[in-house]
Amino acid sequence: MDVMTAIKGRRSVRSFTDQPVDQDMLLKLLEAAVWAPSAGNGQTWRFVIVTEETMMKKLKMVSPGLLGDPPAVFVIAQDMALSKQKGGQMGPETLTKMDSAMAAQNIMLAAHAMGLGTCVIASFHPGAAAKLLDMPEQIVPTLMVTVGHPAVKPPPPKRLFEEVYWFEAYNG
Ligand SMILES: Cc1cc2nc3c(=O)[nH]c(=O)nc-3n(C[C@H](O)[C@H](O)[C@H](O)COP(=O)(O)O)c2cc1C
Repeated sequence: MDVMTAIKGRRSVRSFTDQPVDQDMLLKLLEAAVWAPSAGNGQTWRFVIVTEETMMKKLKMVSPGLLGDPPAVFVIAQDMALSKQKGGQMGPETLTKMDSAMAAQNIMLAAHAMGLGTCVIASFHPGAAAKLLDMPEQIVPTLMVTVGHPAVKPPPPKRLFEEVYWFEAYNG
């Protein structure tokens, strides 16, 4: 699948079949994640992949944005202490969010190319998720990505194009 086809074909999938995702596929997605760019090549992300049903239920309870019943969820967290050490104040405040988003997009595009569906989730309680997953204090969840075999593929939401860009200067 070429990159533009993957970019345009990926959808946020919120309805999954019961089929689990093979571990080798999950590892492939992790590989895609860690090949994302990161500020100063900091690689301060840390990943917890949840597949076990009891933990999934608990995670859903602290994640209002996590819809449907995905067989797997990538919890993308960041080592905030390491990020501060590497990038100063800007690290934990902004760079970690950007790095997590780039890793999430790599996971989603790779998953789409493998025939899997995904949805990125920002609507969850980071403190509660960290506690559930036994994360030490400096490890803070930043984004989640649900992964599964799509039961329904939603139609593409309309994209703005002509009205969102200019060359050389804003409104130019
Ligand atoms: C930063 C960010 C946070 C998001 N959080 C959620 C979420 O909590 N729950 C959800 O169902 N979708 C979430 N989404 C998915 C968007 O709703 C979705 O990308 C958008 O509607 C466009 O649809 P598409 O991804 O199919 O192109 C999020 C997307 C982004 C980029």
